Amino acid sequence: MANSNVKPATGKLGIMVVGLGAVSTTFMTGVFMTRKGLAKPVGSMTQYDKIRVGRGTEKKYLHYKDIVSMPTLDDIVFAAWDVYPANAYESAINAEVLKEKDIEPVKDELLAIKPLKAAFDKNYAKRLDGENVKQCANRWDMTEQIREDIRNFKKESGVDRVVVLWAASTEIYVAPDMKYHGTVAALEQAMKDDVVDKIAPSMCYAYAALMEDAPFVMGAPNTTVDIPAMWELAEKTKMPIAGKDFKTGQTLVKSGFAPIIGTRMLGLNGWFSTNILGNRDGLVLDEPANFRTKEVSKLSTLESILVADKQPDLYSDYYHKVRINYYPPRNDNKEGWDNIDIFGWMGYPMQIKIDFLCRDSILAAPLCLDLALLIDLARRAGRYGTQRFLSFFLKSPMHDYTQDEIPVNHLFQQYVMLKNAIREMGGYEADEELD
Ligand SMILES: NC(=O)c1ccc[n+]([C@@H]2O[C@H](COP(=O)([O-])OP(=O)(O)OC[C@H]3O[C@@H](n4cnc5c(N)ncnc54)[C@H](O)[C@@H]3O)[C@@H](O)[C@H]2O)c1
Repeated sequence: MANSNVKPATGKLGIMVVGLGAVSTTFMTGVFMTRKGLAKPVGSMTQYDKIRVGRGTEKKYLHYKDIVSMPTLDDIVFAAWDVYPANAYESAINAEVLKEKDIEPVKDELLAIKPLKAAFDKNYAKRLDGENVKQCANRWDMTEQIREDIRNFKKESGVDRVVVLWAASTEIYVAPDMKYHGTVAALEQAMKDDVVDKIAPSMCYAYAALMEDAPFVMGAPNTTVDIPAMWELAEKTKMPIAGKDFKTGQTLVKSGFAPIIGTRMLGLNGWFSTNILGNRDGLVLDEPANFRTKEVSKLSTLESILVADKQPDLYSDYYHKVRINYYPPRNDNKEGWDNIDIFGWMGYPMQIKIDFLCRDSILAAPLCLDLALLIDLARRAGRYGTQRFLSFFLKSPMHDYTQDEIPVNHLFQQYVMLKNAIREMGGYEADEELD
């Protein structure tokens, strides 16, 4: 490690996951199986990717752990909250993502992860009906109880550091409202006044995490940390935050494919994305108010890659539509179709069709690992506030919309940002070369 200014990853890292459903149990099972040498963490940047450092004859390609100090998978200790009382083993079996042969060898580890009571409000996810829920006098009390959970977990597990990762259901859409979300003081007052339609339970988790010295990652499309109050709190507590919405299937394809159109100066008339999905996530998203949150997140991708102002002839008038259809027979095996209407020389139309037969949780699990390890790295490097270098993993990257900041959605530009952040933290020079 060159001149890294990152604090070493000593001791254990606690990963507290909100939601113990398909994504989180697939993530945990994969970590435990990898530890035993029974599986490979395929798709994880922190476990596989190599970054070039130096140039010319000096250049080397190094794993992240050889550039900056990183915890190993053996250093991770899990905890979780969920609305349902099923432990991680039962939940992994119920999710039907992984075969039993890939769960049984780590049954004991999974049985030991029993969900803490959820900070939950049924109005935010009507399709859920679990009993493992905290009784809260108001939103402030909800926050206090989550803070206590984090403190207890730290004490009982002896972990050195904690990160909190939201991999729970998508809540109904909460539009940022500066009266309640504009400052930390306003947010705290709204929690004390129990303004339940403006303070989502997820905001209570995020607030509690930051106050307890834990970075927070939003893996769903919830607007939780997309508000000035959370940015201010992250600055004040010197904690990193990242969000939102794991970039897994269709949006990964979109943010990787749109640059082909944009780089070759082809035009776009329309992009229609639809998919069928049958897991509990799909069930929750079948509720229009919950789908709205996802739609806002998914729609934001194209506009910053194929920009009308930059190329009015090519991108001023395209139609972009995203649908999600709940279809139980497919369970977690989502099928995502994209129909792309492009045009070329003299305006002649052409079509591209993409049919991605994916597995939602298989794509999301490595992102959970990378986001948790990298936000912990950011904290050890003394970085706080919005972590733009993590945009690579996220469908709708956080940005300061009050200053008209445009988020970077282009997958390969995001990759450059990721590599440069790791280089800088490792004491190497940043650069823009693609390799
Ligand atoms: N899998 C993907 O490709 C992908 C991509 C992007 C985002 N996501 C998001 O990740 C999240 C998890 O997806 P999943 O497939 O695991 O869903 P899931 O329904 O299997 O699991 C979510 C769990 O969260 C629990 N939950 C809901 N509200 C809670 C609360 N307030 N506190 C604690 N627990 C709560 C639910 O009871 C459920 O068990 C969803 O929001 C989904 O939209 C998934």
